[in-house]
Amino acid sequence: MKVLVLNGPNLGRLGRRQPEIYGTTTHADLARSCVAWGADLGLDVEVRQTNHEGVMVDWLNAAADDAVPVVLNAAAWTHYSYAVHDACAQLVAPLVEVHLSDPETRPETWRHHSVVTPYAATVVKGRGVDGYREALEFVARPSPL
Ligand code: DQA
Repeated sequence: MKVLVLNGPNLGRLGRRQPEIYGTTTHADLARSCVAWGADLGLDVEVRQTNHEGVMVDWLNAAADDAVPVVLNAAAWTHYSYAVHDACAQLVAPLVEVHLSDPETRPETWRHHSVVTPYAATVVKGRGVDGYREALEFVARPSPL
């Protein structure tokens, strides 16, 4: 099964970006790990990252058209992008929301709200890079009838 892992703004600088919050793994390493974890789970994982909201909306719209499951770290868009919210609303295959940190326990109150969560089958947060493995495990799990 094909699965898209979509990462939003500033996640391309993982490893260099506030490592005390986001860790030292680079985005390239994260992408390699996701592909390997996916292969172990029988998933064909493709990882993408963009700093451009319209590009993310296009990717989500294509995932809706193709009924592809999505693991989404919308980064800061999580907290305010109604374009991403509306794109998530159209998905037909499972959506898993993932965050490296736990935004709800961070001091900035604007991080405490997610526009993605209403459409997420589950949310994995505060687990660092390992959270992506948990998200892929969720996608690979047979859905209850
Ligand atoms: C993040 C949390 C967001 O609040 C933040 O804007 C990010 C990354 C995370 O993975 O912890 O860019 O989504």
